[in-house]
This record gives sequence, structure tokens and C-alpha cells, in this order.
Amino acid sequence: VFLALEPGAAHAIAADVLDAAPGVVCDLSADFRVKDEALQARHYGPRPAATRALAERFVYALADVAGQDLRGARGLAAPGCFATAAQLALAPLAGLGPSGPPVLFGITGSSGAGAAFRETTHHPLRAHNVFAYAPLSHRHDAEIAERWRAWTGAADAPRLAVHAGPFVRGIYLTAHARLASPADAVGAFRAFYARARFVRVVAEPPQLTHVLGSNRADVSVVANEREDEIQVSIAIDNLIKGAAGQAIQAVNLSLGLDEGAGLPVGGAFPC
Ligand SMILES: NC(=O)c1ccc[n+]([C@@H]2O[C@H](COP(=O)([O-])OP(=O)(O)OC[C@H]3O[C@@H](n4cnc5c(N)ncnc54)[C@H](OP(=O)(O)O)[C@@H]3O)[C@@H](O)[C@H]2O)c1
Repeated sequence: VFLALEPGAAHAIAADVLDAAPGVVCDLSADFRVKDEALQARHYGPRPAATRALAERFVYALADVAGQDLRGARGLAAPGCFATAAQLALAPLAGLGPSGPPVLFGITGSSGAGAAFRETTHHPLRAHNVFAYAPLSHRHDAEIAERWRAWTGAADAPRLAVHAGPFVRGIYLTAHARLASPADAVGAFRAFYARARFVRVVAEPPQLTHVLGSNRADVSVVANEREDEIQVSIAIDNLIKGAAGQAIQAVNLSLGLDEGAGLPVGGAFPC
């Protein structure tokens, strides 16, 4: 069962599915992603007791990084769209010994905000326009901080600066980091994603239109001459790699099916 509901709506259905073994439930909301209650409360408000208990039954399903670790999982918490782009850039970077938390700049299309009308998704205000929103307070900071802590042990989390762009679908995100000592960042990214079917490490900064309509993430990494400063750029379709596609990929992995079953690989360029 895939749940793509408004925040706070999933717990009753999710509990029923998990109790009715052998069901598998993949939830696309933020209700079960974060385990640290203080972190969750800071970004989303306190989690109701029923949801808190249920969260322990969900694994964080960043499909291209977790891979076969998802096999057999019955509760899958699909990451947020910005968090997916951010973490696909951060996961290999975490192993390179960053000297501090990377800085992340992201821009999203209007479909990231859902179907309900909002001033910021109204066409005359959104078209041909770019603006920052949720400064220093984007909710996906919570799951990014929790994963970063798990990967590096560092309490100081990367900061996500998000922007609204004049397009409907897609997220483009760039991360900048300094490394404590020189490293072969390009080689490390290629090795990290060598077996990831949906992540392509590309030589030039990726382009958003190349991944739209697909479950792919295109990632580039460039290092300075001393190889102690890197810039990573990533492009995803927020509705596929950042939502429905990743959810299907995670369920495929949990059930031991072909990871790519039912998933689009080719984009819609030009779109
Ligand atoms: N959009 C993205 O890029 C994206 C990416 C990753 C994750 N997500 C997450 O995925 C979820 C859905 O996102 P969305 O963009 O599709 O939002 P959305 O357009 O606002 O859709 C939410 C849907 O949930 C339904 N719903 C709400 N409460 C319900 C209930 N109690 N029982 C049954 N249906 C209920 C609504 O139905 P009605 O229309 O009938 O009210 C609506 O169709 C959210 O939790 C969001 O955070 C979204």
C-alpha cells in the first residue's frame, strides 16, 4: 500500500496494513521519516503518541543508498523530495571527510507544494519568478540532519537553502563542501554509485530537463586543483525520484522484485 496523504493522516491506515501481515506500506509523508522526537518536534511539531510508536516500525527508504538493506522491510518511509536530492549528493560526500557541514542550494518546481491552491503556487506569482522560501527553517532539514549524523557522527548538520523556480516539476540542487584533506571526489562518487541503477554520475553539471519524467538522478562533482573543495550538483524529478518513483523502487527492493520494475528510466527531453 502506498500512502500519499497530507501530514498526520497516515497513521491509522499504516497501522492496519502493518498489523495485517504480510502487508507492506510505503508512506510518502514526513510522519515516519525521522526517529529523533526532538528533531521531529522542532520542524513539524510534537508527534502524536500513536504516530510516535508507529515510526519505529518504519525504515528510512532512500532507495539508491539503502539498496538491498530494504529487503524484507514492511514499513517504508519515503524521503522528502528536497531531502532525496540533498542526500544523494551528501551520501558519498560524507565519506570524504568534510571539514564542516556542506551548504546546499536547491530550487524546486511548483508541483512540490501539492495540489491545494497557495499564493506561492498561483500562476501569475510563480511564473517567470524565483524566490527563496522557508529561510533557515525548511522541514526537510530534519531528515537531512538525522542521516548526516548517522553517516558522519557530526551534530552540525548541512543547511538547506530552498528556492521556488518558474517551472512545474523538478529539483536542482548544488552542494558545496571543503574537505579536511585532499581526496579523489570524482572517483569516490563513481564508486559509491557504481551499482546504483538510477543514479548517473555525469561529467558536466546535470540539466533538469534531462531527468524529467524519469526515476533518474544525474549528479556531477567537480573538485578544485588541491582536491580539498568540491561542488556537487544534482537534478531529479521531484514527483518521480523525489516521490512516487522512489517509493516504487523501495517497495520493489523490500519485496525482492526487480528494483526497476515499473519505473521510467528515460527522461522527456526536450520537454
Ligand atoms: N509533491 C511532491 O513533490 C512530494 C514529494 C515527496 C513527498 N510528498 C509527500 O506526499 C504526500 C502527498 O503530496 P502531494 O503533493 O500529492 O499532496 P496533495 O496534492 O496535497 O495531495 C494530498 C492528497 O491526500 C488526500 N488526503 C488527505 N487526507 C486524507 C485522508 N484522511 N484520507 C484519504 N485521503 C486524504 C487529499 O485528498 P483530497 O484532495 O480529496 O482532499 C489529496 O488527494 C505529502 O505528505 C507530501 O509531503 C510530496
